[in-house]
Amino acid sequence: MTQLPVTRESEQKLFFHNYARLPIAVTHGEGVWLVGDSGTRYLDMISGIGVNALGYGDPRLLKAITDQAAKLIHASNLFMMQPQFELAAKLLELSGLSKVFFANSGTEAIEAAIKMARKWAAQSGNTEKKEVLSLSNCFHGRTYGAMSLTAKAKYSDGFEPLLPETGMIAFNDIADLEAKVSGKTAAVFIEAVQGEGGIHQVSQQFIDRLKELRLKHNFLIVADEIQAGCGRTGKFFSYEHLQADPDLVCLAKPLGGGLPLSAVIGSEKVADVLSYGNHGTTFGGNPVACAAGLAMIEAIHEDQLMHNAKTVGDYIRKELEKMAVKHSQILDIRQYGLMIGVTVQREAKYYVEKALERHVLVNATSVNVIRLLPPLTITREEAQQCLDTLDEIFTKE
Ligand SMILES: Cc1ncc(COP(=O)(O)O)c(C=O)c1O
Repeated sequence: MTQLPVTRESEQKLFFHNYARLPIAVTHGEGVWLVGDSGTRYLDMISGIGVNALGYGDPRLLKAITDQAAKLIHASNLFMMQPQFELAAKLLELSGLSKVFFANSGTEAIEAAIKMARKWAAQSGNTEKKEVLSLSNCFHGRTYGAMSLTAKAKYSDGFEPLLPETGMIAFNDIADLEAKVSGKTAAVFIEAVQGEGGIHQVSQQFIDRLKELRLKHNFLIVADEIQAGCGRTGKFFSYEHLQADPDLVCLAKPLGGGLPLSAVIGSEKVADVLSYGNHGTTFGGNPVACAAGLAMIEAIHEDQLMHNAKTVGDYIRKELEKMAVKHSQILDIRQYGLMIGVTVQREAKYYVEKALERHVLVNATSVNVIRLLPPLTITREEAQQCLDTLDEIFTKE
């Protein structure tokens, strides 16, 4: 077999032009390092957009994947499979909730949650209860329902018409929340810490009022934990910092240990919402992905990675705060465990390029936010290398 050149030119020829890929081809990874085809090692502060919680090459994860792959790669949900049962039980134990549905990607978990919310609302007998709300600046995905809930027009421009009876509440604006929710509201979707929106936490006051209004109007609170969940913020679910008490929880990204897997976890209130054939997917809850996810969650607990996320994250914030005194380009720093956003004066893309030249991978979000989502395994010394690189870039700018 001839090997195709993995270059920008062939990328342009082969693919639709929907990804702005970095100009490097990667071949493998080791710990927090991603290795390019030239052998260059990059310090990875992106971890596959918040997926690779254990970094690269964790032997427990590899063993879980290879053992399960040797036994059974796929059978479909026509059958019962041990790894799905184990992971579902673990997610129920961690969340205190009642039921699990597995899918393959974040956006599919959101679609399932929208469908569950509408079905639950229909079962309430109120024929007007259909409205699904989200918060300004949010990101929930790119399929039709998820895109209809996603704030920024750049994701939906040209794809209209969007899902009807959706709407947006201004982020952390209690007056707007009070004005928007009503008896017609089926669900309010929140990210306890917004990721693509630039790393912003929902306020405790907003959550408290949302819970009061749920009592009054009877709607569901859906926590999108796709980016902030699985330990990244220092707790397994980022809503735990706010006691948000959601009815539905969406998980994805790290859930499959790097393999495609997502989940919707639901409370007793929605436990009976679906019936046979109502919803489903051929690949959802793939046994290899579930075995990987279980190994990933066990490793997070065994290695106290939530504690590491908190301590290394706190360290990065303190060092960035010191840097901000020296460098006026840094306008704001927001940090929740290892979910870190640094607002800068110019487009964050500039820093992505400069860091890449120095073999450090950082990400830009919300135009002028440098986002750091390293593996939860990162040490203080490895984090220091990223900090030194950013300091050098700010100094030379
Ligand atoms: C909070 C949040 N929700 C949903 C999604 C969509 O997930 P996926 O890209 O797996 O469809 C993302 C992806 O970045 C996300 O960050």
